[in-house]
Parts: sequence; C-alpha cells; structure tokens
Amino acid sequence: MTPQELAHTHTAAFTQSRPWTESEFADLLTNRFTHVIGNADCFALFQVTAGEAELLTIATHPNSQRQGLALRLMQDWHAKAKALGATRAFLDVAADNHPAIALYQRCGYTTCGLRKGYYLREKAEKIDAVVMICALT
Ligand SMILES: CC(C)(COP(=O)(O)OP(=O)(O)OC[C@H]1O[C@@H](n2cnc3c(N)ncnc32)[C@H](O)[C@@H]1OP(=O)(O)O)[C@@H](O)C(=O)NCCC(=O)NCCS
Repeated sequence: MTPQELAHTHTAAFTQSRPWTESEFADLLTNRFTHVIGNADCFALFQVTAGEAELLTIATHPNSQRQGLALRLMQDWHAKAKALGATRAFLDVAADNHPAIALYQRCGYTTCGLRKGYYLREKAEKIDAVVMICALT
C-alpha cells in the first residue's frame, strides 16, 4: 500500500483521534523494521525488533467493519512477526476504544500497563493508553 492509501483508510477509520498524514506514513515506511500488510479495506502497520513486535496501528474502513477483516489481519501480522523472530507482541490502545480492546482481547492480548493521559482528544480530556501484550506461540 502507498502512504496515500494508508492515510486515506486511516482518516476514514479514526474518528476520535487525529488521523496520521501521508507524510507520517511515508516516514514510518522508511524504517526497515516497519512492515505493512492488508489493503485499502483493512491494514495493519507493525515493527519487529530484537524479538519483539509492536502494532503501530490497525484500521478497517468504516464501509468494511464488522466483517472479520481485522481479526484475520491480526492473525496474519502475528504470523509474519513470528517468521521475523518475534516471540511477543505489544500494542497500546486508548482506554475508551472499546471495539479495539475487544478485538485485542479476542486475539489473546492482556493488559500489562497504563500510560496516563497519553492520547490527546480534540474537544475532551486526555485519555489513558492501555498497554497490552500477547505471546506469539
Ligand atoms: C478496531 C477495528 C480495527 C476493528 O476492525 P473490524 O474489521 O471491524 O473488526 P472485526 O470485524 O475483525 O471484529 C473482530 C472482533 O473485534 C471485536 N469488535 C470489532 N468491532 C467492534 C465493535 N464496534 N464493538 C465491539 N466489539 C468489536 C469483536 O469481538 C469482533 O468480533 P465479532 O464481530 O464476532 O463480535 C475498527 O473498528 C477500526 O478501524 N476502528 C478505528 C481505528 C482503531 O481504533 N484502530 C485501533 C487503534 S489501537
């Protein structure tokens, strides 16, 4: 996927927080530890370094949500991260993002930390980030 396609789907999906721009995606993709899988309907961006994987973002276009796309993509990126040597995966998610937390719990993630006031909201108070971990077995 191109930075433009990534930014387009991200903007459509992220209604609660600032969407990432095309140039931010382009910068992330210059990092050799960054990987992207999926398509304009649903994509995941992740990094694998020193045996650990981190999900940077995942987004399903609103027209394609609740069809199991993100669930499948979580399995796909886990498989790719494992193939690249990762044994565990991390992510952080806004504490009020109940759809994403439900998705991650379904994929085997458990909470391992909290970052107070980590996410900015345009017209609301800052939101904590929940840090989650999953063993890649
Ligand atoms: C979170 C997100 C990626 C889920 O994508 P999706 O393709 O719709 O998810 P799936 O259809 O694969 O859902 C898999 C499971 O996740 C959970 N889930 C997904 N969306 C949910 C919702 N709106 N409410 C409650 N649970 C939800 C459910 O357990 C679901 O299984 P079910 O449909 O059998 O109940 C999507 O809602 C999205 O893009 N949101 C905006 C961006 C975002 O918040 N990304 C995560 C940032 S950390």
